[in-house]
Amino acid sequence: MDAALEQILNLLLESERAGVAALDKLIGEVGNDDLRRLLATSREDEAASAVALELLIREHGGAPSAKIGPFAAKIAAAGALAERLKLLIRGEEWVARKVEEALALAPPGGPIDDHLRRMANRHRFEVEWGRAELIRIMNTL
Ligand SMILES: [Fe+2]
Repeated sequence: MDAALEQILNLLLESERAGVAALDKLIGEVGNDDLRRLLATSREDEAASAVALELLIREHGGAPSAKIGPFAAKIAAAGALAERLKLLIRGEEWVARKVEEALALAPPGGPIDDHLRRMANRHRFEVEWGRAELIRIMNTL
């Protein structure tokens, strides 16, 4: 596996794990049922994506990282729920940009490309609903 591709896939793997850890914490603190459901769905997607990335890296001859990205600790330290959601959205935007960088390195039409395209769509969608949720929360505070 190309070293640059392996590196960026590992960065994404660590980020998805960080997403799972951050969402785990947030889910326990959210009172609103709709928001909690959205976060729980997102958590499942991030966990499945981490597993898929790990497999893809290994199947293509790379070495999957065992680390969790720094993003989870940053969100935990951000204070109020609205602030933490804002950081979560920014984190997802960052991941979406990294996915685009990874797509430029992945062999077109293969399983890595396929997974990255799904990741790109999901992260764009999450950023959109996250923003809408955030506006709704701000209005009810
Ligand atoms: Fe993510």
